[in-house]
Amino acid sequence: MSVITKKNEPVRVCVTGAAGQLAYSLLLNLARGVVFGEDTPVILQLLDINPGMESLNGVRMELEDSALPLLAGVVCTSDPEVAFTGAQAAIFLGAMPRRPGMERSDLLKANAKIFREQGEAMNRVASPDIKCVVVGNPANTNALILSKYAPRVPKENITALTRLDANRARNQIALRAGVSVDRTLDVLIWGNHSATQYPDVSHATIVCAETGARRPVSEVITDTEWLHGEFIETVQQRGAAILAARKLSSAMSAAKAVADHMRDWWMGSEREGELVSMAVPSDGSYGIAEGLIFSFPVRCPGGGKYEIVQGLEISDFSRGKLQKTEAELISERDEALACVAADSA
Ligand code: NAD
Ligand code: LMR
Repeated sequence: MSVITKKNEPVRVCVTGAAGQLAYSLLLNLARGVVFGEDTPVILQLLDINPGMESLNGVRMELEDSALPLLAGVVCTSDPEVAFTGAQAAIFLGAMPRRPGMERSDLLKANAKIFREQGEAMNRVASPDIKCVVVGNPANTNALILSKYAPRVPKENITALTRLDANRARNQIALRAGVSVDRTLDVLIWGNHSATQYPDVSHATIVCAETGARRPVSEVITDTEWLHGEFIETVQQRGAAILAARKLSSAMSAAKAVADHMRDWWMGSEREGELVSMAVPSDGSYGIAEGLIFSFPVRCPGGGKYEIVQGLEISDFSRGKLQKTEAELISERDEALACVAADSA
C-alpha cells in the first residue's frame, strides 16, 4: 500500500511582507493544509523588500526543514512581478508602519504608493481570479487602492482582514458568559479595522452545550451597559493593548485570523450558515457608500465565494456606530486617492 496520498494541483500563494513577524506565524499554516485543504499543495511566493532578503532566505530554509508534504515550492523575491506571477491567492502583510512623529496623511501616502505598485504588478501577472486579503494597515484603505490599480481582478476578490477583531469579540463574550469560545456564534464586526470598528452582538447567540439550542447573547449577558460600553471599547483597543504590552503588534492571533478568513472563503465556513466578518467592497448594503472596503457580516459557502448577509435589523444604536466608522473610511479613502492622484500628476 502506498503511503503517498493523491494530491490536487498546487495553489500559488503570494505573501507580501513575508520576512516580518506576522508571516513567521502564518506560513507554516499555509503549507499544512489548514487553509487550502489537506490534499492541496501550495507554492509559496514570498515578497519582501531588499533589506529583508537575507532574513527571508532564513524563513525559506526553515520552511524546507519543516519537511511539509504539501509544500511544493518556495520562491523568495523582492520583485512584485515574480511574486504575483500566476498567484491564485495573495496575503498582503507588507506595509509601511507608522513611525513616531509621522502624520496620518504621510502613512496613507506611503501605503498608497506600495499598494498601487503591487496592484499594478498583480494586474499584469496574477491569475485573474486571485483571492486577496489585505492585512497591512490601514488595511481597508490599502485594499481599496490595490483594487483601483488591479482592474482585471474582480472587485469582490479584494478583501481586508477584520476576522481578528471578530475573534477578539467572541473571546470577550465567551469570557463574560463563562462558555468556551466555540459556543459563541455570529458575533460581528462592522466597518474599519481601527478604533471606530463596531463589534456587534445584536445577532449573536450562545449555544447550549447540552441541547445545541441557541440563546441571544443579550439574554445570557443582561448587562447592556457592559455590552454597549466596555465590551466594544475593549475590542476596539485590543490591537493597541497588545502593541503596548509586546512592543510589537499582534502576530500569532493575527496569523490565526488570516488563516480563518482565507479558509472560510476558499473552502467554506466550519459551521454551515455561520455569519463571519470580512471587509469587502460595499455594494450599498445597509446604506454603506458603495465601493468602500467595509466589514460586513458574510456567509462563506465554499468554492471561493462569499455573500453579504442581507436583512439584519439595525437598531438606532447600531446605525450611529455604522455611520461613524463609515465616515472614517470615507475620509481615509479621499485622502489616499488624493495622494495617488498627486503622485501621478
Ligand atoms: P513587520 O514589520 O514585522 O513586517 C512587515 C514586513 O513587510 C517587513 O518584513 C517589511 O520589510 C515588509 N515590507 C515593507 N514594505 C514592503 C513592500 N513594499 N513590499 C513587500 N514587503 C514590504 O510587521 P508585522 O507585525 O508582520 O505586521 C504586518 C502588517 O500587518 C502591519 O501593517 C500591521 O500593522 C498589520 N496588522 C494588521 C492586523 C489586522 O488585523 N488587520 C493585525 C496585525 C497586524
Ligand atoms: C491589531 O489589530 O493588532 C493591529 O492592527 C495593530 C497594528 O497597528 O498593527
